[in-house]
Amino acid sequence: MLSFVALLFFSLQVTVIFAQPFSLSALYEDLLEKHSWGTSIPSPWRYHSTPDPHTLLTLRFRLRPSNFDQLLEHLSQTSDPFHERYGQHLSKAELDELMHPAEQTVMEVREWLNWHGMEDTVISSTADKSIVLTIPVSSAETLLNATYSIYAHESDTNNQILRTLEYSLPRHLHAHISLVSPTTYFGNSRTMKKTSFLQPMRHASHTSSSYDSSVQDDCSSTITPECLRDLYNTGNYTPSRTTSAKVGIVGFLGEYANTADFATFTRRYLQDATNATFDTIEVNGGENDQNSPGTEANLDVQYAAMAWPIPMTYYSTGGSPPFVTDSHTPNNTNEPYLDWLDYALALNDDELPRTVSISYGDDEQTVPADYATQVCNMFASLGSRGVSVMLSSGDDGVGGGDCKTNNGSNTVVFQPTFPASCPYVTAVGSTTGVTPETASSFSSGGFSRLFPQPSYQSTAVSAFFSGLGSKYSGLYNKSGRAYPDVSAQGEGYQVIISGEVQSVAGTSCSSPTFASIIAYLNDFKLATNGSTLGFLNPLLYANPGVFNDIISGSNPGCNSDGFTAGVGWDPVTGLGTPDFPKLQAIV
Ligand SMILES: *[C@@H]1O[C@H](CO)[C@@H](O)[C@H](O)[C@H]1NC(C)=O
Ligand SMILES: *[C@@H]1O[C@H](CO)[C@@H](O)[C@H](O)[C@H]1NC(C)=O
Ligand SMILES: *[C@@H]1O[C@H](CO)[C@@H](O)[C@H](O)[C@H]1NC(C)=O
Ligand SMILES: *[C@@H]1O[C@H](CO)[C@@H](O)[C@H](O)[C@H]1NC(C)=O
Ligand SMILES: *[C@@H]1O[C@H](CO)[C@@H](O)[C@H](O)[C@H]1NC(C)=O
Ligand SMILES: *[C@@H]1O[C@H](CO)[C@@H](O)[C@H](O)[C@H]1NC(C)=O
Repeated sequence: MLSFVALLFFSLQVTVIFAQPFSLSALYEDLLEKHSWGTSIPSPWRYHSTPDPHTLLTLRFRLRPSNFDQLLEHLSQTSDPFHERYGQHLSKAELDELMHPAEQTVMEVREWLNWHGMEDTVISSTADKSIVLTIPVSSAETLLNATYSIYAHESDTNNQILRTLEYSLPRHLHAHISLVSPTTYFGNSRTMKKTSFLQPMRHASHTSSSYDSSVQDDCSSTITPECLRDLYNTGNYTPSRTTSAKVGIVGFLGEYANTADFATFTRRYLQDATNATFDTIEVNGGENDQNSPGTEANLDVQYAAMAWPIPMTYYSTGGSPPFVTDSHTPNNTNEPYLDWLDYALALNDDELPRTVSISYGDDEQTVPADYATQVCNMFASLGSRGVSVMLSSGDDGVGGGDCKTNNGSNTVVFQPTFPASCPYVTAVGSTTGVTPETASSFSSGGFSRLFPQPSYQSTAVSAFFSGLGSKYSGLYNKSGRAYPDVSAQGEGYQVIISGEVQSVAGTSCSSPTFASIIAYLNDFKLATNGSTLGFLNPLLYANPGVFNDIISGSNPGCNSDGFTAGVGWDPVTGLGTPDFPKLQAIV
């Protein structure tokens, strides 16, 4: 870091002292790689063709905030239950102020673009702290020392994206630009993994509306809202601040939440919520095709409805599939997580959901580090505004497939899931069974290779390491962010899809379930204290006793038996499953 600062300083000196064309070109030609996949094209994409160099590409340069450290400091204080500023979240105006790039950042970047003759093409440089330009592909290639190609999806060649395997920036601009897109993020919403899957039908017999104080036997094979209310003790709570802490369910391309199925579900399984509704907001070209209900979307809204009458919004995010490039529209800039986060962070304080659930995940190694860091930092920004974000931990145990690294060495290592691996979200794993609950074998968990371990979890994680000893040494990164943080039931969920009951499993079930409980908790905290919980993890790790500790089961993967759930935090079920009255007692 120090040497980097020194380099930056040196570069600036050069500009000042030799401000002549020659020295500027020396400055701008001193390129440093920003991200590279080497020669390997990220799966499932295949090289398709070379674009016409005149086709237009819209590039977005995200500028670094002048003081992101200050934002993180703020977040760490306002999410720390022992800090005097606990719960004092930032308003939109306050966050925007903090996130503003320094004047020098804007100047350096514009001077560089100007030097390349592109200043006139700048179309936006304000609201979201980005500089956006639409330029020919050939100019983008010069600017970034990149080679853009059209890549096609291996199983659907009409699904095409325009990306480069690597890109660079002048060395001194790395301190000013956090991400340029589209560049090396190949995933898009058609390849992002939903973390739910249909199971062979398990017969449901629950239709009664009564909440039994004891959990019924068949909750061990089929899960309904009634089972979850019994298990997690939410049956007696009545929300009161229902207009100010809405629930947001984030969905991506092609997953539509069906209102008729939702009504069938509430009639059948949530009889105190038969009038429940949700809004659908279409973000960045997302659609709302009511003839095409999505398993993931239906699952998410139906189980988040346990928080009714707290209002709910389904955010249908993404473009219209399939995306086909042609000479006029080569710019599939679809970057789904960023697209939703840009949208959410621009919402006014009264429109912002305070509890959010996202049931998608990718292998962390398939996401460029600069892209992942940008997304994770934006989750931190949401946390600082008082939003609690739940992410499903993934359905591949310690890793799916062959678990080989994609950096050329083909080493087998456990494969963490992103965005669950971001330290500013609450990652939710899965359990099954009722007396007692046990870990679901698919529940993803482990240790990030990208994000370091945050301090809020160091005690919990070192206790786990003392039990683990040297087992799996080298297969996981001991200094990485550990996940999941918590868990909830994730198998045998009864979901209505196209009018029929289907049985669904996955950490996708667990995230909206946990979110519905946090929505209640946010309502309770608003009523008693006037603020929402915001980023949850420091509070949760400081109170491990409010969870039902899950002490059996494991998450095999990568040809290994995976980690084992045991006493205390573990990388299968985190701290455990929620007990609502105990959670109420700590907020
Ligand atoms: C541009 O990238 C190529 C690899 O594609 C590399 O060989 C070359 O050195 C780079 N140019 C500069 C100026 O860094
Ligand atoms: C649903 O709404 C109707 C009309 O407002 C009302 O009479 C009924 O009690 C509501 N049902 C529930 C379960 O809240
Ligand atoms: C795509 O490029 C066209 C110009 O070819 C531009 O008008 C349009 O706004 C771009 N779309 C996006 C999403 O950037
Ligand atoms: C690839 O990643 C593995 C696991 O992190 C590491 O051991 C190896 O050194 C890396 N290889 C290269 C070429 O970077
Ligand atoms: C392990 O995690 C740390 C902290 O995030 C990171 O700096 C390091 O590169 C990682 N090592 C490997 C081998 O992935
Ligand atoms: C809310 O809780 C915080 C921290 O416990 C406390 O400082 C604050 O006074 C409380 N606010 C209200 C309105 O009770």
